[in-house]
Amino acid sequence: MKFLAEPVLFNDWHVVGRSQDLKAGKLLSVRLLEEDLVLWRDDTQALAWQNRCPHRGARLSLGKIVDNTLVCPYHGLAYNSRGCCVKIPAHPTQLPPAQAYVQTYQTQERYGLVWVCLGKPNRDIPDFAEWDDPTYRHICCGPYHYRSSAFRALENFLDIAHFPFVHGGLLGDPEHPEIEDYQVEASLNGITIRNVRVWQPDPDGTGQGAPVTYEYKVLRPLTAYFCKESNGRRFAIFFHVTPVDQVECIGWMWIAMNYAYEVPEAELRAHQDKLVAQDIAIVESQRPQRLPLDLQAEVHLGSDRASIAYRQWLFQLGVTFGVT
Ligand code: FES
Ligand code: CO
Repeated sequence: MKFLAEPVLFNDWHVVGRSQDLKAGKLLSVRLLEEDLVLWRDDTQALAWQNRCPHRGARLSLGKIVDNTLVCPYHGLAYNSRGCCVKIPAHPTQLPPAQAYVQTYQTQERYGLVWVCLGKPNRDIPDFAEWDDPTYRHICCGPYHYRSSAFRALENFLDIAHFPFVHGGLLGDPEHPEIEDYQVEASLNGITIRNVRVWQPDPDGTGQGAPVTYEYKVLRPLTAYFCKESNGRRFAIFFHVTPVDQVECIGWMWIAMNYAYEVPEAELRAHQDKLVAQDIAIVESQRPQRLPLDLQAEVHLGSDRASIAYRQWLFQLGVTFGVT
């Protein structure tokens, strides 16, 4: 049982795809925490199974869906939505053996995304308050693929001092790189980072640079929230990173904003894609790829208080996967 050492991630919810991509009759192959999964839908819900037939180990995602059963591509064994074998074509009168079942996992669909827990979920999927507020528009960005640890990607989302250098002209101004003190509060439930003042080149669309206040919340080890407000314009992000394996991950990002209703969604998404591509280039260059939790391993500055708190919190939770 390779996951006994990693209950934190094993017992948490992770995004494996968008609900709209999991169409009836379609089989999707995804990978989560080094486990290959097949996703499909029966008449009522999204299903996530180990992508392996218990007969001879063939990949079930190469099979097909027939009458609410998943039929293996190799010898045609059919499995019902609970993962139990209900048909053996070579022996039509034989009762399927009790061991002929596929390992199934819990799923939920929330925020237009399919979430899977490989173990026993110890918490629910985190709240995203702006999701239910009809005055906000919502834009689903991603999936964003990083060849790096999920924790490197999440820490980059919390990184305060990189804007003028990685996103100069878009989110930061190289002439204004100073970071004032900000507040960090950590508890076992997560981390809140408040009063982060970041100079933005043009926060209100007037062509004038000005400081903007950011707030971050780390809700789960790989789920975070960001919000900024300027003259009543609120912009929030709900970000989840899926740990594919120790050094590969996928970012999913919901944007909620109460302004710019007239701007086409494709334009907003293209802007976000550009920003994330700038981040990915840096994150993929970081070595080691796994996030070092030993605070002696890298140099820390005052502006890093958010990421230091994040590393300490992961250490307290006992995370071992994707970190060093
Ligand atoms: Fe799946 Fe034989 S391997 S039916
Ligand atoms: Co960035």
